[in-house]
Amino acid sequence: MAENGKSDYFCDMNRENTNIGADIEKAINILRAGGLVAIPTETVYGLGANALNEVAVLSIFQVKNRPTFDPLIVHIAQGSDLGLYAEEPSEMAWRLAEHYWPGPLTLVLKRKSIIPDLVSSGLETVAIRVPNHPQTLDLLSQINFPLAAPSANPFGYVSPTCSSHVHQQLGAKIDYILEGGESKVGLESTVLDLSGSAPVILRRGGLPEEELESFLGMKIQKTLSSSRPGSPGMLHSHYAPRCTLLTYSGDDWHETSADLSPFEFSEAYWIRFSHELPGVDKRRQLILSKTADLNEAARNLFRSIRELDNRGASIIYAEKVPDIGLGRAINDRLTRASSRLFG
Ligand code: TXA
Ligand code: MG
Repeated sequence: MAENGKSDYFCDMNRENTNIGADIEKAINILRAGGLVAIPTETVYGLGANALNEVAVLSIFQVKNRPTFDPLIVHIAQGSDLGLYAEEPSEMAWRLAEHYWPGPLTLVLKRKSIIPDLVSSGLETVAIRVPNHPQTLDLLSQINFPLAAPSANPFGYVSPTCSSHVHQQLGAKIDYILEGGESKVGLESTVLDLSGSAPVILRRGGLPEEELESFLGMKIQKTLSSSRPGSPGMLHSHYAPRCTLLTYSGDDWHETSADLSPFEFSEAYWIRFSHELPGVDKRRQLILSKTADLNEAARNLFRSIRELDNRGASIIYAEKVPDIGLGRAINDRLTRASSRLFG
């Protein structure tokens, strides 16, 4: 719970904190000096540093406790800057950049040597995107370097979708949090690898794969497993809360919860897609979208998990959502959040 007694679920933006503010000048000065600033984006909040300053980038890994084999996304102000950091972007890359940026799509391309090895974890490629958020676009347009920014959460935990989430976990370790309200998408960007002969989706995210396939007029291969060295960030146990999260589909909750004693059952919390489970205490259930809207469900997913984790839940049952559009990325995150059980 936040100090004012309100839960962080509500993304309280009025709390007094000198570390959080809307001062873009201040954020720029900190970044120029090699500091760390959490930046709002439409997907989730990022932990930003000058991508061309290796010392600053190293501090991102330290603050997040993130292994340096997991590369960072480089955020740029506009698609036309792509060629500054990627080696000869293909025609497909330019088309995608023009159509979807600013937006929740990250392109993996051949890296130019100006991008430090550390940013890309020594890979020959670099991941780039233009985030769709007014304050962050304003900030990016005023600096002459790109920002390396992973999601602003400790490694392996749920991504933050508002400033108070960042403050709760990393506030003491970073220089400034640029206030930008709640993230409108709520899920990280879709990561598309264009460095090989055919495009490959490395991470499902805010841009549904159906949309990409229809824009490109082709089926896109997916390599979403953590076994692929090319996408080191897709570890099975990503997005895990502290408590145990179990997923189920439709009526399978009977089976999933069969091992619980009546007491344990009454203590469990539930994340539901669109309606409450009859016979279960309403106060123990969070609904992602009463109108069964996948966009709204995506927006509410991470803060619902956080909310229940903060309430001290020991078991969360999360209902899978329809496996279409953004629903695929939601189900992907739920599965990863639950896999802590399996190591
Ligand atoms: O929406 C987002 O993408 C957010 C906001 C802040 O932009 N950022 C984000 O960053 O989710 P992060 O670090 O949490 O996830 C980046 C993902 C990881 O899975 C990482 O392995 C992958 O992108 N990635 C980064 N560079 C890569 C590269 N060169 N090749 C393959 N995968 C890469
Ligand atoms: Mg992340």
